[in-house]
Amino acid sequence: MSQYLLIKKVYEVKPIEEMVIVRGWVKSLRQSKKFSFLVLNDGTTQKDLQIIVDGGLSNYEEVVKLTMGSSVEVEGVIVASQGKQPVEMQARRLHTYCLNSEDYPLQKKETSLEYLREIAHLRSRTNTFSAVFRLRHVLAQATHEYFSNESFTYLHTPIITSSDAEGAGEMFRVSTLHLDKLPKNEKGQIDFKQDYFGRETFLSVSGQLEAETFAVGGLGRVYTFGPTFRSENSNTARHLSEFWMVEPEAAFNTLEDNAKLATGYVKHLIKKSMEECGEELEFLASRYAPENLKTLDHVLNSPFEMVTYTKAIEILEEVSKSHKFDFPVKWGMDLQTEHERFLAEQYFKRPTIVTDYPKDIKAFYMKQNDDQRTVRAMDVLVPGVGELIGGSQREDNYDKLVSRMEEMKMDLKNYWWYLDLRKYGSVPHSGFGLGFERAVMYISGMSNIRDVIPFPRFPKNAEF
Ligand code: 4AD
Ligand code: MG
Repeated sequence: MSQYLLIKKVYEVKPIEEMVIVRGWVKSLRQSKKFSFLVLNDGTTQKDLQIIVDGGLSNYEEVVKLTMGSSVEVEGVIVASQGKQPVEMQARRLHTYCLNSEDYPLQKKETSLEYLREIAHLRSRTNTFSAVFRLRHVLAQATHEYFSNESFTYLHTPIITSSDAEGAGEMFRVSTLHLDKLPKNEKGQIDFKQDYFGRETFLSVSGQLEAETFAVGGLGRVYTFGPTFRSENSNTARHLSEFWMVEPEAAFNTLEDNAKLATGYVKHLIKKSMEECGEELEFLASRYAPENLKTLDHVLNSPFEMVTYTKAIEILEEVSKSHKFDFPVKWGMDLQTEHERFLAEQYFKRPTIVTDYPKDIKAFYMKQNDDQRTVRAMDVLVPGVGELIGGSQREDNYDKLVSRMEEMKMDLKNYWWYLDLRKYGSVPHSGFGLGFERAVMYISGMSNIRDVIPFPRFPKNAEF
């Protein structure tokens, strides 16, 4: 019995003159009376395997009927090839698992990314999506590798939570109460004491607060990497309702250390992608972003720009004289994607770290600057995407944090444990969150976030 080899292994081992078995799905078939060229892929590599099937094969009439997407097992001899790939196979035996149904949606000539979103359960069969998801895997592995090397411990923070980590009120409720008979208390309000957890609960928008508790005084350096949920009504190419976030948190790190960590991380992602997904990147670049590889190479070898929010606003105000933005620029505003992209793409032409934002547009936990109006925030903006990372040094002073939370009318009761941190061994500490899908977008050059997550969730859509 010949050995079963993944197509990826066939190319790694190049077992010339050996009989092996491969299994996969037919990409195409070119046939003649005497022999046929069958192109096979099994998802383990960007490369297809070309298989020559001789007309003398006992079930040759079955072979010529094979259609794109049909699943087969082929046993044959691997031989050196003059073609595009170094090796190919000469078939000795072919078994069909499933002759693809004639209504196979991917046979259509017109397979735009929009169309493929409607058949997301089949799109991993295309070159584009198998490339994107192999790249996504490599980025996930590289994430663990980077933080592990930097002595961070991987922490699984809860998905169901009772606190709003960003204080933005964009949470999905978790409840087992029956919507048509909600229990009421004596004040006539919904009685959440009768709900599953005996209180109001939600899907987490960020694991940061819990990560902070483990970083300060506990493990020193931790990172989370998990799904996060936001009910913001953003129907854009950069927002999802369910996305994955990587959130490191490090005791004793200042904002500058935080920026360094983020820079090192993004560069590591690029480096690993180039090392392990060169073919995927080349393919995606050729289809969607011709300059992508050159740009990534440039990013890898140059420092990120660092600029304060106030300086960035000055730049944008100056630019506004000759360049029309949809949102007028003014100190105090939150930067819109158009501003973020302008800074990274056209002004600095590289990833740009904007720091020290106005406190009124940032979350309650950020460390307050002495100027009373800005906080030690940092956003990392990248060409093509805009905001890739949001982070900050955290407010480690108990009184300052309490007064900021009171100012923002937050319910302190819910955060007693978070405030405890500022009483027991409080230290300066910092962290950030990287939107994992935005990283996949940035490195792949794909321009819609819905194309870099297997089954995107966004307003009015939860198909599959
Ligand atoms: O800037 P954000 O909201 O920051 C936080 O959640 C902090 N708690 C992180 C921290 O300091 N530990 O989100 C972080 C990143 C953004 O920069 C963006 O890349 C991504 O998460 N992100 C989204 N990605 C896809 N869809 C959405 N709706 C996103 N919202 C944020
Ligand atoms: Mg942000």
